[in-house]
Amino acid sequence: MPSSERQSRIALVGFMGSGKTTVGRALAGLLGFPFIDLDAAIENAAGKRISAIFAEEGEGAFRVRETEALRSLASRGEGEVLACGGGVVVSETNRRLLAAEFIAVWLDVPFGELMDRLSAEAERAARPLLNSERYREEAEALFRAREPLYREASRFTYRWKANESPADAASAIAEMLASASES
Ligand code: S3P
Repeated sequence: MPSSERQSRIALVGFMGSGKTTVGRALAGLLGFPFIDLDAAIENAAGKRISAIFAEEGEGAFRVRETEALRSLASRGEGEVLACGGGVVVSETNRRLLAAEFIAVWLDVPFGELMDRLSAEAERAARPLLNSERYREEAEALFRAREPLYREASRFTYRWKANESPADAASAIAEMLASASES
């Protein structure tokens, strides 16, 4: 595949609640690319919701489905903005795919801000990894373990600024990508 095509595949990674879907949709709009949500692609392929995959098949089976979906998107040539699930970087295969086949951008949001966003019941209901009573402690352990993996898989880090809207973050990321491609 010509590198110009490969270069136009952008993947947003980051912890649950970091805004990958909202920012990704806005970024896709700015760049004129289609937007793809990896969790939605997994749900479409499986014919069931993420929560049902975890409940009926377990997390391991979900991770296999996640890698299959990522690999299939990585083999497509067209420009796109992909929002990944927060655990995509746990698999070394996925990290390699992200590094080799996508321009991966880590949406780096401080843990306290993530917890403010995720403390709403509705936010946690759709996320099997946050449905325990001790979700704060569990999320913090996951967050600390994953930070180096987000860094490893990503070409760029975008550090979220307090009170910044998703639209502003998307514009800043578009500018960051444009200036990197000029240099
Ligand atoms: C997960 C994050 C979720 C989803 C699944 C597992 C994780 O996506 O893929 O519940 O391991 O962090 P979001 O980051 O979009 O919530």
